[in-house]
Amino acid sequence: MKLLIINGPNLNLLGLREPGIYGKGTLSDLEDFLRKVGEEEGVELSFFQSNHEGAIVDAIQAAYGAMDGIVINPAAYTHTSIAILDALKAVSLPAVEVHISQVSEREPFRQVSYAGMACLKTYMGLGFEGYRQAILCLKDHLAGKGAEA
Ligand code: DQA
Repeated sequence: MKLLIINGPNLNLLGLREPGIYGKGTLSDLEDFLRKVGEEEGVELSFFQSNHEGAIVDAIQAAYGAMDGIVINPAAYTHTSIAILDALKAVSLPAVEVHISQVSEREPFRQVSYAGMACLKTYMGLGFEGYRQAILCLKDHLAGKGAEA
């Protein structure tokens, strides 16, 4: 089982960026944590981060036929990008949305998620743990025992 983990803009600055909201862990800390999760769960993970909307669209398209599912934190593009929504719908791979912060308790402009409209489930406000939950959700879904809804 192969999953692609996509992180959007400014998530390369985790650790430095607003640590009161996003925590002190860096992107490489997150990837190390998830690599361990992958080993424990028998899931092969690939990581992609970009600050560019089109590059994220390209990564989603490239996942078609190569990956079994996608975990995506589109960061600010969550709230603006119909292109990312359309790419997720186009490849039709099972996808789960993650946000490190509790987006539902933040500014009004963060209350729409376009990407989330193409996702099985959203985890938010759990920090790095949300990504682990997303991997477990996709693993169950792909094994045919999905409890998502
Ligand atoms: C975020 C929430 C978004 O609103 C924000 O633009 C981000 C990070 C999160 O992980 O909490 O960049 O996706």
